[in-house]
Amino acid sequence: MSRKILVTSALPYANGAIHLGHLVEYIQTDIWVRFQKMRGHQCWYVCADDTHGTPVMLRAEKEGITPEALIERVHAEHTRDFAGFHVGFDNYYSTHSEETRACANEIYARLQAAGLIETRVIEQYYDPLKRMFLPDRYIKGDCPKCGARDQYGDNCENCGAAYTANELHNPYSVVSGAKPELRQSEHYFFRLSDRRCQGFLRRWTQGEGRLQSEAANKLQEWLGEVGESKLTDWDISREAPYFGFEIPGAPGKYFYVWLDAPIGYMGAFKNLCAREGLDFDEYWGPDSTTELYHFIGKDILYFHALFWPAELQHAGYRTPSKIFAHGFLTVDGAKMSKSRGTFITAESYLAQGLDPEWLRYYYAAKLSSSMEDIDLNLDDFIARVNSDLVGKFVNIASRAAGFIVKRFAGQLCTCDQSLPAIQAIRDRSAQIADHYEAREFSKAIREIMALTDIANQYVDSVKPWELARQPGRESELQVACTSAINLFRLLAILLKPVLPALAARAEAFLNVAPFVWQDGHTVLAAGHAINAYQHLLTRVDKKQVDALIDANRQSLGATPPSVPPAAGEPQPERQADEPSAAVAGLGGTQIGIDDFLAVDLRVARIVEATRVEGADKLLRLLLDIGPLGSRQVFAGIKAAYEPPALVGRLTVMVANLAPRKMKFGVSEGMILAASDADGQTPGIFLLSADAGAEPGMRVK
Ligand code: MSP
Ligand code: ZN
Repeated sequence: MSRKILVTSALPYANGAIHLGHLVEYIQTDIWVRFQKMRGHQCWYVCADDTHGTPVMLRAEKEGITPEALIERVHAEHTRDFAGFHVGFDNYYSTHSEETRACANEIYARLQAAGLIETRVIEQYYDPLKRMFLPDRYIKGDCPKCGARDQYGDNCENCGAAYTANELHNPYSVVSGAKPELRQSEHYFFRLSDRRCQGFLRRWTQGEGRLQSEAANKLQEWLGEVGESKLTDWDISREAPYFGFEIPGAPGKYFYVWLDAPIGYMGAFKNLCAREGLDFDEYWGPDSTTELYHFIGKDILYFHALFWPAELQHAGYRTPSKIFAHGFLTVDGAKMSKSRGTFITAESYLAQGLDPEWLRYYYAAKLSSSMEDIDLNLDDFIARVNSDLVGKFVNIASRAAGFIVKRFAGQLCTCDQSLPAIQAIRDRSAQIADHYEAREFSKAIREIMALTDIANQYVDSVKPWELARQPGRESELQVACTSAINLFRLLAILLKPVLPALAARAEAFLNVAPFVWQDGHTVLAAGHAINAYQHLLTRVDKKQVDALIDANRQSLGATPPSVPPAAGEPQPERQADEPSAAVAGLGGTQIGIDDFLAVDLRVARIVEATRVEGADKLLRLLLDIGPLGSRQVFAGIKAAYEPPALVGRLTVMVANLAPRKMKFGVSEGMILAASDADGQTPGIFLLSADAGAEPGMRVK
């Protein structure tokens, strides 16, 4: 039966570029949507730019343009980037739209009528020079706990303490440098603490399959025990000047960006309804039987699983069927970093000539239905794409197509459907569909690659290239190549949600209509003529990846210092993955705490130490790092230590250094030792940990 499904991805902020972290989400959603469409379901995918708020307002001002001009430009950039990665929205809209405004006003009016809106006077920092109230992220000062300078108004990057902006010592405005004053103003609150909201959310979050188990646990924590009321009211208004929607009946007050952002899902869909002749109420009305799914990052779960359903429910709309949260992207095991060049923008990836489908494939191979972070390991990325896609998958077509075109005028003969390789694909296809449906993409890919191996074994066993050299074996050659082409086609169907452009090239070369999932039940008919093989996919060259990292590396010295604060770059209200402005440096010598913490230092016990034949400086060490297992490391300390003297010692190692292949074996980390510049005089001194430290303990 055909389902009616509405899918969204979180709306990216209109004040920044799309980067590879964002793309985890948009690619994940797009694969799922393409799969649903291939299955014949009516599935709509909408998204939009999240345009409102202080950061957009200030950035536009800094650029000397209107916020409208800024969001229009960014909309074009985002649209281009998403298209570049084949993210196929049915509508990519903007929250700065009449549809979104109408929905926001309506929801607000209904919540008000339900007695869930309340006003209250609050005290907040105000910038007297700039004449505006300051969000916490725009206030800096000395940490009230440890005294570290230049800390943001919500938490300290030096000691990790969390506090409110009012507690900072010597506060200053990041916007103007002025000393902020505390001022009172009236704010509007959504009464989430109301018994109705608490009760509803308790029921809603328990809904079958509504939330992943990790998310349901989080919600449980936020909601507290029954009887306990942990939820506090939510401040949904901001004072002018603000770029957003003015609250009806409240001049000078604006909806806080997070109030209208999810409503942007509705606005984008309403706009699509007008274009496609769809019925808005069928999807959003209280009795809707359609499915509604929100794909989001784990950082915005609170907004989507608490505020949003409570708002919808009490404003008389349907609530989401399910919320799918994913983890965060790390690159080579660490948070994306501008100084390391791993804060990679979508634009730069495409500009360097990297194929977007390499990334789509790699993400698919790593994604699951869980909220775990996913790591883009650059060496693994190159290896996997080259071996799986180019070496295995594309290879099947390229080895068979030439013979069919040259020897048989492009014509296939009858395909033997009882061939074990074809049977294997048929048998696994339903399971693979289940994996796609459940967002277990890595499992789907693993299965598809196992089938690809089986297909290659078939080609290797019939050896078309040898048949081609032997006169009188033409029909065997045609059979072998026909089977290979059919195997390739079946695998391409299974991979199409992940690799839509490659699938389109395959469709063109196979001379067939766009694949749908059902096509996996058939084979190409005898006499069907294919077109000349066209190039399907190139290999990743390590040089391209290196150039990409170089292009994204911003030297520490080039970052403007964060002191003095006067013309400081304002930080968005929440920018989860940007490295802090503390990466600023005096002559490139300072780093932020995030950069330091990216190095995973661990206490390690040396369990074996041996000489390495043929190496005059190295010792081979086997290190025990407790729960993290054991590691082999080659260390240049031979001149200073006799191996037996090292065994049993505790030292410190870098545990997340990418493994390095050396002549003598793989080195899986690095131990720390002190020496002067030449490492000779007066010698090399291994670090040790005081007694009581245990292998695996984090050093920080
Ligand atoms: N504007 C809000 C969302 C409003 S939805 C009604 C926002 N924008 S964002 O640009 O910061 O992030 C957009 C989406 O990308 C979020 O779901 C976020 O979790 C995701 N990601 C941003 N950086 C990411 C990584 N480094 N890794 C994985 N996902 C990341 O939040
Ligand atoms: Zn501190």
